[in-house]
Amino acid sequence: MASQVEEEGYSLAPDDQEYFKECVAIIDEHQIDIDEEQVLELLQITMRWPEESLQTLNHCGMVSNDYFTNSGFLNYEKWKRLYDYGFPSQLHNVLDLTPQLRSLNDKLYEVKGSHTCANFYMSKGSKTRRASFNPHHHDYHVIVKPIYGKCNWLIGEDMREIVPGHILILPAYTPHAVLQSEEPRLSLTLNVSS
Ligand SMILES: [Fe+2]
Repeated sequence: MASQVEEEGYSLAPDDQEYFKECVAIIDEHQIDIDEEQVLELLQITMRWPEESLQTLNHCGMVSNDYFTNSGFLNYEKWKRLYDYGFPSQLHNVLDLTPQLRSLNDKLYEVKGSHTCANFYMSKGSKTRRASFNPHHHDYHVIVKPIYGKCNWLIGEDMREIVPGHILILPAYTPHAVLQSEEPRLSLTLNVSS
């Protein structure tokens, strides 16, 4: 079942509007079933996670990524410790991880003509730890597809609860941040503009 598109206020050059709408529809309708346990399993694949493929934020909003081995790959146990404390992580370029993600990349490839860059944002949730990056914006449109867990976003000046089943579109230059994330959550963030 198609979900509700949360934000219609994006603007693109007229030539790009149809392209963007097509991408939104593909992402909106594409089912992605992956739970916390499966993501944690994927993170245990040796040599899939080189440095720069995964970042965790410390409470001050700085990247904390001292969990890589001497050969430059993820030390899962070290990372998991931060995860269990509730710190959020960003996993880069994840559209190769599961058949459903690969299929989404294939569908987008047909309209985009190149691989789509998409990241996972995940955390175990915490009442006291930072939920994500400070409010910021991008010079491209971002499409967010929540996979599991709810969280509260700051979008512009409004706070909104975002739950799975709703696509969120962040038009270029819109300030945004996840401010509260108290339960395990995973969202897929896609950049179809570059
Ligand atoms: Fe962002």
